[in-house]
Amino acid sequence: IERTFSMIKPDATRRNITGAIVKMLEEAGLKVVASKRVWMSRREAEGFYAVHKERPFFNELVEFMSSGPTVVQVLEGENAIAKNREVMGATNPKDAAEGTIRKLHALSIGENSVHGSDAAETAKVEIAYWFSETEIVG
Ligand code: GTP
Ligand code: MG
Repeated sequence: IERTFSMIKPDATRRNITGAIVKMLEEAGLKVVASKRVWMSRREAEGFYAVHKERPFFNELVEFMSSGPTVVQVLEGENAIAKNREVMGATNPKDAAEGTIRKLHALSIGENSVHGSDAAETAKVEIAYWFSETEIVG
């Protein structure tokens, strides 16, 4: 059994589609074992996305991620990391497959509704960035 980190981004909380997104995750066999709503500061967003700090869209990304509430979550399941990425769909909704969260809900390549860890090591780091071990209840 594997854990991954998931985030419902401000474009989605703003449109009140948190539940619709969680439903898609659950239907894919992922279980929410930790969840909280946070309005991250610019500093928290910069820290979380530090790997992207040299990318041209970094400032826009940090601005967007601190523009409203997000829901940070830990998901658990078999191959949770890959499964979550599959349900999310491609980064750009124009490239996302039918039936994926981003195809259905994302507004643009930036405002793309969800985040999911891309590997075991990043999942571990990202979970620890937002949660203490006692907040995760399997
Ligand atoms: P995450 O699960 O959020 O990490 O998405 P990803 O792994 O599919 O994409 P990537 O790690 O390459 O980029 C991280 C995030 O930066 C994306 O989810 C987008 O929100 C944002 N992003 C990526 N490319 C662009 C871009 O060209 N323009 C803007 N404005 N944002 C971008
Ligand atoms: Mg990524």
